[in-house]
Amino acid sequence: MPLKTLMRTYQQRADSALEQFLPTEHIQPARLHAAMRYAVLNGGKRVRPILTYLTGSALQVPLSVLDAPACAVELIHAYSLVHDDLPAMDDDDLRRGKPTCHKAFDEATAILAGDALQTLAFYVLSHDSYSELGERQRLKMLETLALASGSRGMAGGQAIDIDAVGKKLNLAELENMHIHKTGALIRASVKIGALASTQADDHILEKLEHYAKCIGLAFQIQDDILDVESSTEVLGKAQGADQALDKPTYPTLLGLRGAKQMAAELIEQAVDSLSSFDQKADPLRWMAQYIIQRQF
Ligand code: IPE
Ligand code: IPE
Ligand code: MG
Ligand code: MG
Ligand code: MG
Repeated sequence: MPLKTLMRTYQQRADSALEQFLPTEHIQPARLHAAMRYAVLNGGKRVRPILTYLTGSALQVPLSVLDAPACAVELIHAYSLVHDDLPAMDDDDLRRGKPTCHKAFDEATAILAGDALQTLAFYVLSHDSYSELGERQRLKMLETLALASGSRGMAGGQAIDIDAVGKKLNLAELENMHIHKTGALIRASVKIGALASTQADDHILEKLEHYAKCIGLAFQIQDDILDVESSTEVLGKAQGADQALDKPTYPTLLGLRGAKQMAAELIEQAVDSLSSFDQKADPLRWMAQYIIQRQF
């Protein structure tokens, strides 16, 4: 199955699982639930759940076992976007081709929707009826997701990002920011998929960790590149937003060519780290290429 078809299959699977996990608008508080659904069920690429499904599948895990872990990561991601778009942060009006959550609702509702999406992620991952996995495995996944989302992961990276506005970061500092704000959750998507398998020994985990670290950094470098090169229409979010806010990015530091070269090298490294895996890992190899070839 070509990657495009495979991605569409997993996007649809993630969308319908997310739809089930989210509270309906008919339950009170209706406006909060409507905002949560609006922020999630709006055509995201679902890169993180796809990575969880692909990693688990490469290690023989049935898809039904991966629904809750895959959705948990996407719920954290959706919350991070709602808060990232707030006036206090990037102050963006457009997300996934629609008004951002605080524009469609209001700021207080968007803050609360983000909060509630975050806790829903942990609820989904921990709840007995959503999982056929043992408690030990689920606990390890919870630990992984908590660490990747918090001050030593995504939220920490966002703090570095806010602090870096208008400043010149060097390459090591910029890498540190990207590894945290975006890389951490992408790493967690892969690791959680691996943790669902009983086959994932230390060697396999280490190789997958390196793969995920490389694609996670490349993902944000490509996001920076697209902010310069793409259009608002294609992106579904405001093009040029980084420059408008004077954010340090890979293209500002290395130029577009340098940024593209860096991303390509990271993808090469990511694919190399899967060299001992059989063809069941091919979709992970294709996914690595997709990350730098994507147009939005
Ligand atoms: C955008 O993430 C924010 C970053 C972490 C770079 P995605 O590019 O995965 O956004 P969606 O989920 O497809 O909208
Ligand atoms: C977002 O980085 C990272 C997180 C949401 C954690 P950006 O601010 O570059 O993401 P976009 O470009 O708004 O999607
Ligand atoms: Mg941001
Ligand atoms: Mg932003
Ligand atoms: Mg961006």
